[in-house]
Amino acid sequence: MTAATTQSIGLSAPWIDERDEELVLDVLRSGRLSLGPAGPLFEERLSQAVGAPHAAAVSSGTAALHLCMVLAGVGPGDEVITSPYSFVASANCAIYEGATPVFADIDPDTLNLDPGAVAAAITPRTKALVAVDIFGYPCELDELRAICDRHGIVLVEDSCEALGARYKGRPLGSHGHLATWAFYPNKQITTGEGGAVTTASAAEHELIVSLRNQGRLETSSWLQHGRLGFNYRLDDVSAALGIGQLERLDAILQARRDAAARYTDLLAGLDLETPLADDADHERSWFVYVVKLPRGIDRNAVMARLGAEGIGTAPYLPSIHLQSYMRERYGFAEGLCPVSEDASARTMAIPFHARLSREDAERVVEALRAALEAA
Ligand SMILES: Cc1ncc(COP(=O)(O)O)c(C=O)c1O
Repeated sequence: MTAATTQSIGLSAPWIDERDEELVLDVLRSGRLSLGPAGPLFEERLSQAVGAPHAAAVSSGTAALHLCMVLAGVGPGDEVITSPYSFVASANCAIYEGATPVFADIDPDTLNLDPGAVAAAITPRTKALVAVDIFGYPCELDELRAICDRHGIVLVEDSCEALGARYKGRPLGSHGHLATWAFYPNKQITTGEGGAVTTASAAEHELIVSLRNQGRLETSSWLQHGRLGFNYRLDDVSAALGIGQLERLDAILQARRDAAARYTDLLAGLDLETPLADDADHERSWFVYVVKLPRGIDRNAVMARLGAEGIGTAPYLPSIHLQSYMRERYGFAEGLCPVSEDASARTMAIPFHARLSREDAERVVEALRAALEAA
């Protein structure tokens, strides 16, 4: 088969239906494109979905993380520990507030922060921990929280990839501390661009609501600002799409679980590692499907071969500390986080979304089989 004769298979695709379209149209026709009723309704539904008392919608997952840094009081001279095996936003948020990101290494199986490495990275300057649930797999929340409590550090969970995941039987977002969410179109649900912060604390929620809205106070008029804030609001068109998406959250999550299970079946017997299975404490929400190639296999060659067949792949995820701006700014180099670096060299995302058909999954796996044989 060649790309010329077959449809290409993209890495991800949002699932938008007629109900989503209607809800968005309703907002457009209402004329209330921002600060209307769709935002609070989306927030109410999100807080129900994740079991958090409070949810504040914001303009992106990055904005959500940034606001959490402000809330944590992170500033110049502080250190914020996070995972190198993540999307850059989970480290950048600390830099925005003048702090230094400190990378602790990950566990080779979960690809999430290794609590032992986090404990070893703590210094008197550590202000916060950004714990990521990478690829939707819950991080070691209890252990990480115990470390934070012991040292008086603020725990922020970057659950941007993990809507619907559960830790020790309870949904991420319901564990009390600050958690951030993202709704870019490759995520479990989308608002186009968008994000949210959830928390059990009414005071934290109130502060986020003010900070996202240019520092306005609940009591102040439009041109009165009680603190330095940002425009990180989510508009109503985006929120309406989010409402539609949340109405189908269970179906979306189930479809993604089914698509992942199909891949895991089809990939059995190939010389690669498939994603870690759930256990009693960790229930993944499927964000991407990432395989780990054996050492010595030329990943670029595999990706090029799949690309030639119209199949999307990505080298998920590069280690953040080795990005050029991180090297230049902080002098980070190879060897800082060997487990993350090894994962970064071998992991690869293959096409994955809620409506990936069996035929497409089979085509991806056949192409991958051929590419591995050739490599
Ligand atoms: C782990 C993680 N954190 C943060 C973000 C940032 O979200 P956004 O792209 O909405 O700013 C993402 C998005 O890809 C992510 O995967």
